[in-house]
Amino acid sequence: MEQAPIRSTQLSRSAASPPTTRRESQGNRSEELAQRTQDKVTLALTRPMRKTRSYLLRRHKPGDMGWLVYRHGVIGWKEHGFDERFEVFVASIISKFIQHHDPRRERCWIVEMQKEVVGCVFLVKKSETIAQLRLLLIEPKARGLGIGAHLVKECVGFARRAGYRKIVLGTDNAAVAARHIYQKAGFRLISHKPHNFFGQDLIEERWQLTL
Ligand SMILES: CC(C)(COP(=O)(O)OP(=O)(O)OC[C@H]1O[C@@H](n2cnc3c(N)ncnc32)[C@H](O)[C@@H]1OP(=O)(O)O)[C@@H](O)C(=O)NCCC(=O)NCCS
Repeated sequence: MEQAPIRSTQLSRSAASPPTTRRESQGNRSEELAQRTQDKVTLALTRPMRKTRSYLLRRHKPGDMGWLVYRHGVIGWKEHGFDERFEVFVASIISKFIQHHDPRRERCWIVEMQKEVVGCVFLVKKSETIAQLRLLLIEPKARGLGIGAHLVKECVGFARRAGYRKIVLGTDNAAVAARHIYQKAGFRLISHKPHNFFGQDLIEERWQLTL
């Protein structure tokens, strides 16, 4: 069971203790000190992790791709009910990205928070003039901090510098937060149709941004 955080009133309880001899007092002081240290450690361990705005964006490195496949699989299942075909679909996108990677025109951004990977996005080449934004994901604990929007902005800036004319992306009507971000970034819905996504009947949507 989770321990309740220790309050400062408990830490200063010894102030109300009965009088003691000097030796007892010294012994008590060191015990108290040890107890305080222990309390601080316990406090640090039991305090819930605070949301922080501090995060790092970096390029991909070995170990990231396995994590991305795994987390997409778990989150896709928990939040959208996607079965294991989704994980395989993500793996196929990543496999193609790694095997045919053109660093001048394609990029993967990895988000780290407190040295832990908490998100990603990919911009890949669809044709000489069209880029595709793929696999935008932020871990639930890092959401709502503007990181998803930041990643989309990075993709748009990179695509412009790389000389693309358009960015396209595919999503579904259930990805509400993502659709909101795309719309705010200037993407427009260009087509939609019913589609079964990995066991779920949804509306498939195609969005596009002219650069
Ligand atoms: C989409 C996702 C990447 C957003 O990440 P994030 O870091 O939380 O995004 P941000 O904090 O930059 O912005 C979230 C925006 O969505 C809005 N939002 C969040 N939940 C929403 C909801 N249910 N309905 C409408 N808007 C919503 C927020 O208000 C915020 O908009 P604002 O800045 O105008 O207030 C994240 O939710 C995610 O990983 N979802 C699951 C995977 C997914 O759907 N990927 C997209 C596949 S196409």
